[in-house]
Amino acid sequence: MYKINGGINIKKDHFSTGITEDQVLLVGEKNENIEELKELTLTAGGNIKGYIKYRKDNVNPAHYVGTGKLNQIKNFVLNQNINLIIFDCELTPAQLRNLEEELEIRVIDRTQLILDIFSLHAKTKESKLQVEKAQLEYMLSRLTGKGEEMSRLAGGIGTRGPGESKLETDRRRINKRIHRLKNELEEIKKTRDVQRQDRKDPIIALAGYTNAGKSTLLNQLTEADKLVADQLFATLDSTMRNFELPGGKSAIISDTVGFIRDLPHGLIASFRATLEEINQADIIIHLVDGSSDDIDKKMNTVKNVLADITEEEKEEILVFNKIDLLNAEKEQFLRSCYPDAIFISAKTGKNINDLLEKIQEIVYRDFKTIAGVIGYEDANLIEKLHNNGEVEKEEYIQEGIYIKAYAPKSLAEKINKKIKKPS
Ligand code: GTP
Repeated sequence: MYKINGGINIKKDHFSTGITEDQVLLVGEKNENIEELKELTLTAGGNIKGYIKYRKDNVNPAHYVGTGKLNQIKNFVLNQNINLIIFDCELTPAQLRNLEEELEIRVIDRTQLILDIFSLHAKTKESKLQVEKAQLEYMLSRLTGKGEEMSRLAGGIGTRGPGESKLETDRRRINKRIHRLKNELEEIKKTRDVQRQDRKDPIIALAGYTNAGKSTLLNQLTEADKLVADQLFATLDSTMRNFELPGGKSAIISDTVGFIRDLPHGLIASFRATLEEINQADIIIHLVDGSSDDIDKKMNTVKNVLADITEEEKEEILVFNKIDLLNAEKEQFLRSCYPDAIFISAKTGKNINDLLEKIQEIVYRDFKTIAGVIGYEDANLIEKLHNNGEVEKEEYIQEGIYIKAYAPKSLAEKINKKIKKPS
């Protein structure tokens, strides 16, 4: 294991999927970004042989890194049997090609790595289609780049020939496939919208940076056995599960794809349908890994993606997870910075009740009490109550139906008007 330019320790055998077994050299700018690139690489199944840091102010348009750095990379590749280099940035098609030619080795950038992980983890039909669409769109943008360059290089008329027309055919074929995928995704979305309309329980959506512990929390709340893995983007599909609030009312929790810094825009667009669960939610839980080093940056990423996808202001609960890993000082510090936040350990279950109480408080905040007799002619209102409120008592007596219930304000007001006055 090698270290160049600094002291990050690579966790050995941290996670091995045994999928690709590529011998990888990472190239990145900042320590924390390299740390994340390592996690992504391990998640994709690569073996990290080392990393090299570059300075962003030395960026070279042809190779991204300067000549000196390029030589350093070349030496490393020769000495360490590397067969893949991953850059922590978005490289232009020309830069990718130049680097591969110069280093005689496969080079990919962060977007390609993330796409690779997404395609590894896509399980359902919907996420598979979404990932394929994102991959094709990425490919298309690369093809366009090449096409533009080719015509520039070729110098115009008469020199484009078969190369250009092959490119056109590829482009057309990809566009056609993207179009078909969009249609299929649209159909899946329609079915989901219909299912969604049938839901009566409040929906709580989990949003958070990848690896924050969303699946673990979902399992803790619902006693489900959703895949929990110390890898990034283990979950690509949104999951919906029922769970019970302390007052006995049932609620739905939905898990969504994890967010990440500089999530390629095409990917956000591809997952918009899944992320739309967030738009349907009554409450959003923003789950933060309290043990992480760059909490602020991760929180900002999540906030920005949320702002991008949500159509209206939502009730939000800020929850710091993994407090079992925090020392008292750090927990105290976070509590003083975020006095309204809730601190839990999804893994051990610590303080989960605080979170449940908070959800309950918000769900019930606008609830009003109903108590009295409703005539049999208004019996249909009872069904509404069962669907949208909380019925504590329901007795069929001669004058009608005696009910004691809690319901959202508008329904409660409507029913209260129908309550029979004692004669
Ligand atoms: P993505 O699918 O990448 O979005 O991840 P996620 O947010 O669903 O995270 P997940 O629940 O898969 O957890 C990621 C890792 O953190 C796993 O190794 C969990 O065991 C671990 N983890 C989750 N919650 C806690 C916690 O409260 N304490 C500790 N120590 N580890 C936790």
